[in-house]
Amino acid sequence: EFHLAPKHVSFSFEGPFGKYDQRQLQRGFQVFKEVCSACHSLKFVAFRDLEALGYNEAEVKAIAKQWAIKTPSVDPATGEPATRDPVPADHFPKPFANNVAAAAANNNAIPPDLSLMTKARHHGPAYVYSLLTGFQEQPADLLKHFPDAKTPEGLHYNPYFANLNLAMAPPLSADGQVTYGDGTNPTVDQMAQDVSAFLAWTAEPKLENRHAAGLATVIFLLIATALAYMSYQNIWADKK
Ligand code: HEM
Repeated sequence: EFHLAPKHVSFSFEGPFGKYDQRQLQRGFQVFKEVCSACHSLKFVAFRDLEALGYNEAEVKAIAKQWAIKTPSVDPATGEPATRDPVPADHFPKPFANNVAAAAANNNAIPPDLSLMTKARHHGPAYVYSLLTGFQEQPADLLKHFPDAKTPEGLHYNPYFANLNLAMAPPLSADGQVTYGDGTNPTVDQMAQDVSAFLAWTAEPKLENRHAAGLATVIFLLIATALAYMSYQNIWADKK
């Protein structure tokens, strides 16, 4: 394997006490909406799930309106699937009519659904962050030793990607690509961290419940251990 291990980057939700930073998730959602959703779906996330990020019902409805939901019927005028307005229970749809259209638009690669991407790759959020910030020129010595690894026309070199060359062009290429409402400076690095955190949330929305349950379990086990030790002492107290 020639690809690099992910960069070191820390997230608020790491560790047993980790929690999502709701404002970061909102910023990450904004990056997904304005950049990634042009090519990627979130098929396991419903619009109404965004209420967990602090949006109210009216805001969720307004957000959902920015997508169109394909219906099984065909629009006779275009030959494409007919669409309808979304409801909050709809999931973030695929941006292309079908896989053939998706591949045709992306140098033969189909942009994968991102709902579970941070679970599908080792070091999920750090991997996504590294991928987004890892596009670069191919190093000369790599080409010298492995001429076959030369990036083919239409692909993009990224040492964090297992195949080294991927069909996605750098989606975050300039600071200020989105404008954050909370005043955070939208550097490429910041946008990459934010959307990676958002994708950690889509893959594990109940992370905080898991951490809380784990913590309660450890505390319970500590108390149980103390009680067991005390009863052991008590039972054997006169048998010295
Ligand atoms: C693949 C994230 C924007 C097209 C991927 C992968 C991730 C990702 C994590 C999977 C890499 C892997 O398999 O390990 C993102 C994020 C985006 C974004 C977070 C927004 C910031 C876009 C856009 C396009 C696009 C705008 C289209 C113009 C693709 C394609 C692939 C891909 C075609 C498949 C690449 C291959 O397998 O060679 N993306 N993406 N992505 N993405 Fe994106």
